[in-house]
Amino acid sequence: MSDKSERSAGGPRLREVLEDIPSYKPGRPAAAGGPVSYKLSSNENPYPPLPGVLESVTSAAASFNRYPDLACTELYAQLAEHFGVPAAHLATGTGSVGVAQQLLQATAGPGDEVIYAWRSFEAYPIITQISGAASVRVPLTGGAESEAHDLDAMADAITDRTRLVFVCNPNNPTGAALPGAELERFLDRVPDEVLVVLDEAYREFVRDERMVDGLELYRDRPNVCVLRTFSKAYGLAGLRVGFAVAHEPVAAALRKTAVPFGVSQLAQEAAIASLRSEDALQERVEALVKERTRVLAELRGQGWTVPESQANFVWLRLGERTSAFAERAEEAGVTVRPFAGEGVRVTIGETAANDIFLQVAAAFRKEA
Ligand SMILES: Cc1ncc(COP(=O)(O)O)c(C=O)c1O
Repeated sequence: MSDKSERSAGGPRLREVLEDIPSYKPGRPAAAGGPVSYKLSSNENPYPPLPGVLESVTSAAASFNRYPDLACTELYAQLAEHFGVPAAHLATGTGSVGVAQQLLQATAGPGDEVIYAWRSFEAYPIITQISGAASVRVPLTGGAESEAHDLDAMADAITDRTRLVFVCNPNNPTGAALPGAELERFLDRVPDEVLVVLDEAYREFVRDERMVDGLELYRDRPNVCVLRTFSKAYGLAGLRVGFAVAHEPVAAALRKTAVPFGVSQLAQEAAIASLRSEDALQERVEALVKERTRVLAELRGQGWTVPESQANFVWLRLGERTSAFAERAEEAGVTVRPFAGEGVRVTIGETAANDIFLQVAAAFRKEA
């Protein structure tokens, strides 16, 4: 008997693909006990809920003995109006990572291939493996200054087994975004039967005018699906609500694969109230973008090579010194997100938190 069948003899047979699945590592919480501590490890929003959100959630809480609206009717109506898309092109889920997993359920299984850049969002390998499909990772290109998707290589990697391509734009964890012209050239090369998922979790933070909004690209491309979330700019990470915009066959498949009642009424109400607070949202996003500009300039002034970030985080490629940097940051009062042997991703947070990170970076640089 093989090892695997012996294991299954001792209990229920579990799918083999689960055996070596990498586990999702959440960003470490802020350290307890120090004089100050800030969490810069999960790309969360440092601001409290937008005006009206807490009130909506509190009022919805009185009815949580009831199931939520399965069809997210009011949220779809608000999203459709806000983004100028038909409600039939929308599908919500438990965070955009939940929607991404549904997209895989809808498109890929054993024998199929899923392409994504690497390093990119760490959920891609996990949810791909769960689907049973094989991951095809295409290294980032451009050297330490850009760390962007290599779209030509990604297009070259498409085979007749490819079912889905993730394009993380801006890319987590490097922050690099793709100019619209490049993205369009890539999309022109992708066969119609391959779904391209433009993961725009950080879209609200993009300021470079060369970048294009995925919602413009999807309109005349039935094989393009745009993923957005309320977790980042909107500050609703804890409520788990994200959505996809795609043409009907894809949007309909997402409704079929959704966990019934997965998006709670609290999340739906919070999302609706957040959409109504556009001015306050823009103000906060603008303040974070300003902080990002300051942090990038100071890091470069200290002598670091940092890719241009269009998201709410920055990336320091530290190689072997990654863990040492993360420890130093934690001692100083900020937790960052290390990727061992590669680098650290640091969320743009409160000014005081960003200042601590910059002080750590300056001291670390001098030791190099
Ligand atoms: C690129 C990207 N996509 C999707 C997500 C998932 O966000 P959520 O599931 O909270 O919407 C994240 C979160 O870190 C992300 O970085």
